[in-house]
Amino acid sequence: MQAKVLVSRAVFPEVIERLSAHFEVDYNDRDAALPADQLAARLVGKTGAITLLSDRIDAAVLAGAPGLKAVCNVAVGYNNFDLAAITQAGVMATNTPGVLNDTTADMAWALLLASARRIVSADQWVRAGQWQGWKFHDGWFGNDVHHATLGILGMGRIGQAVARRAAGFEMRVLYHNRTPLAADQEAACGAAWVSKETLLRAADFLVLLLPYSPAVHHIIGAAELALMKPTAHLINIARGGIVDDNALIEALQQKRIAGAGLDVFENEPALDPRFLALDNVVLTPHIGSSTRATRLAMALLAADNLIAALGGQRPPNLLNPEVFGR
Ligand code: GLV
Repeated sequence: MQAKVLVSRAVFPEVIERLSAHFEVDYNDRDAALPADQLAARLVGKTGAITLLSDRIDAAVLAGAPGLKAVCNVAVGYNNFDLAAITQAGVMATNTPGVLNDTTADMAWALLLASARRIVSADQWVRAGQWQGWKFHDGWFGNDVHHATLGILGMGRIGQAVARRAAGFEMRVLYHNRTPLAADQEAACGAAWVSKETLLRAADFLVLLLPYSPAVHHIIGAAELALMKPTAHLINIARGGIVDDNALIEALQQKRIAGAGLDVFENEPALDPRFLALDNVVLTPHIGSSTRATRLAMALLAADNLIAALGGQRPPNLLNPEVFGR
């Protein structure tokens, strides 16, 4: 008898096809998260699951699905997993690193440039028919990106991809990470390690790329924003909760920093409505990895992780190796 697996929300037909060669697939083909009680109910009797970042997998869910052996997230971030509880339950957990690095790094730059040159506000102004004649002192002065200082907080694979792109703008690149990169990695992306405080003070563009965990909750709050230059822009392409959104809104309202480009929010998609009234912020709906090719690669990688895990192989992106072979 084939193992039964759940795919918690719409992915791609190619992914279902790949999984169906190995498993009996229970597929929620709607692109909407199952409510927590339905997710729990549909995990009963399943051996594995493909999950998305909208699915909370914790001790309560696991208690109702004792046959579960693997949960495979279609995301590099996995703060929707209670990894300790998953490990305690003897379940393998996987994510999808690597395949989204370049797409997400491109998006960080899209937000950075849009914020620096006020692209979204300018577009809205033109569409509203307010452009009545070209002006030299036109009120649309932005901030230069070339030769500026790029600061990266969280220098993993995506951070390094963002840094490499800065060479074309001839920027100085600084970063802060708990563990500095090896010298050859630093050289490859032309970046220098500095303390967090130096990074905050020196950056013209501060890009956040650290994974969310309770330890980094509100790591950018009022005190950190106060250290930033009034001409600086903050780009968050990592996770909501890393930034204290209330403190950021106040800093943007009072023009204590020049702008922000945000792809992630606290309590998304119900972001703080005060963001919508600000013209110095660019808002996107958590689309950092959103090209068809990359989302497909992520979903196929999750499928491969699940096929390996349930086939007795070590999945390529195992987050809790201590569980393997248990
Ligand atoms: C997206 O946010 C991801 O973690 O892959």
